[in-house]
Amino acid sequence: MLTDKFGRNINYLRLAIVDRCNLRCTYCMPEKGLTWIKQNELMTDEEMLRICSVFTAMGVDKIRITGGEPFVRKNSIDLIKNISQLNGLNDLSITTNGLLTEPYIPQLKQYGIKSVNLSLDTMDRGRFFKITRRNSFDKVMKTLDGLLQHDIKVKINTVVMEGQNTEDIIPLVLLTKGLPVEVRFIEEMPFNGSETDVSLNWNFTKIHSYIKDHFPDIQKTVDPKSSTSYNYKIPGFEGGIGIIAAYTRSFCGDCNRIRITPSGILRTCLYEGGGINLKDEIRMGKTDEELKNIIISSIHQKPKDGWEAQKLSLTASQIHQSMATIGG
Ligand code: GTP
Ligand code: 5AD
Ligand code: SF4
Repeated sequence: MLTDKFGRNINYLRLAIVDRCNLRCTYCMPEKGLTWIKQNELMTDEEMLRICSVFTAMGVDKIRITGGEPFVRKNSIDLIKNISQLNGLNDLSITTNGLLTEPYIPQLKQYGIKSVNLSLDTMDRGRFFKITRRNSFDKVMKTLDGLLQHDIKVKINTVVMEGQNTEDIIPLVLLTKGLPVEVRFIEEMPFNGSETDVSLNWNFTKIHSYIKDHFPDIQKTVDPKSSTSYNYKIPGFEGGIGIIAAYTRSFCGDCNRIRITPSGILRTCLYEGGGINLKDEIRMGKTDEELKNIIISSIHQKPKDGWEAQKLSLTASQIHQSMATIGG
């Protein structure tokens, strides 16, 4: 079992398999001037699989595949298949924007993917284009439909942004009336890859009271340990609602996660600049035992919370990194 110095059990690895994305969401990256990780800096499939197997041997039982957009990586479905076969893994999940996902759904089901988190910020085609700078709303809806038809659990991730999609909050809540989906409203974080600051108008409290104004009978439901979202339900609705206080970071005390970037950097916190590069260690010929020791000492440095991490290591320019290079 992997434990940090605050006694938190680290059992959840978020593996970003690529930094590229086929959308350009305004809250995540600018349209132009992007620099991508060079091919030789990107981990190979073998390196990713090796890192995952070292982590599962150390007690990690949940892996989430993220990006960028995971399906933009060449042969990502084969990598997903190989990761799904690792001993000790209980939960393999994916966070995707849904553009390229639909054809792979039968395979995802076959490989035992438990849940797919789908990014969808609006139910309106025009606003979808404004937010993502691409016209792909119908593809995402097709993916949503396909996932539900295959009985794969779906969580929809919606970043709430003043002046952009607040009119979508109620239509998205209403989506849970007839569909067994969980819609999670996320506070916008300052990771948009540009130098613009995020003004957090729509924080947890505001999102919650806005929904409560429209649905006064909203009920609190259970929050599993280490959940990023505070969960709710409208009585009689099939699905559920969540609010993720990503910016106010109220869930750090139970944090069970670490991240690996597409180039192999181990980040023990979303707000940490990043420490050891495991790919470089592999390329230097380290054994699994040596990798384990490196991981143990890095996890010992995991900050108490996002505020501490930011104080310790993030410079102003790092905080303007895109989520795509960190892995959502
Ligand atoms: P589950 O396994 O379904 O609980 O997924 P998740 O919520 O961990 O993952 P997902 O990729 O769907 O992330 C949803 C949102 O949670 C992201 O957009 C972030 O806004 C936020 N989030 C995820 N991890 C962290 C984290 O470590 N710190 C902070 N502050 N926010 C995070
Ligand atoms: N603030 C909050 N959430 C973000 N995501 C990407 N950038 C941001 C941001 N600046 C979310 C996406 C995706 C998840 C992995 O990260 O909506 O669902
Ligand atoms: Fe964990 Fe850091 Fe995220 Fe908090 S900000 S939940 S400590 S990774």
